[in-house]
Amino acid sequence: MDKTKVLFVCLGNICRSPSAEAVFTGVVKNAGLQNNFEIDSAGTSGWHEGGPADGRMQSHAIKRGFNLTSLSRKFNPNTDFDYFDYVIGMDNENMRNLENMARNEAHLDKLYKITDFSKELEYDEVPDPYYGGDAGFELVLDLLEDACERLMEKLS
Ligand code: 4NP
Repeated sequence: MDKTKVLFVCLGNICRSPSAEAVFTGVVKNAGLQNNFEIDSAGTSGWHEGGPADGRMQSHAIKRGFNLTSLSRKFNPNTDFDYFDYVIGMDNENMRNLENMARNEAHLDKLYKITDFSKELEYDEVPDPYYGGDAGFELVLDLLEDACERLMEKLS
């Protein structure tokens, strides 16, 4: 069976999308479905390319059992849209940027926002935590944990 390829996208690829990658990987592993998915993350900016996840995001995530190991990379519209089956943005600005980079309908059809899959929490996007405090990082994880279960159900 072909793997379902999922790419999470935010601005810097050091806070929200690496967390989404780790949370979704955890949900998929708990369900024993790790062989069915390929999971990655990227940023619309290349500002932190090659760097690790933000230390604040890492310390909040590890308290919930999520180890953020991926290194930042920039979203590549020339390859990522064709390679991945689902391209999932974190906020409305990410979605606008991704829509502008899409070259055809097939690319647009792969685009989703993570909060499209929220179960309990009513947010329209995952707010950027970078310039805020602890509560913002906790909210990122709350929203991702809330959405990733349903995301897996939809994609399985
Ligand atoms: P992310 O957060 O998009 O969730 O990775 C940010 C990381 C870095 C910056 C902004 C947002 N920045 O301005 O460098």
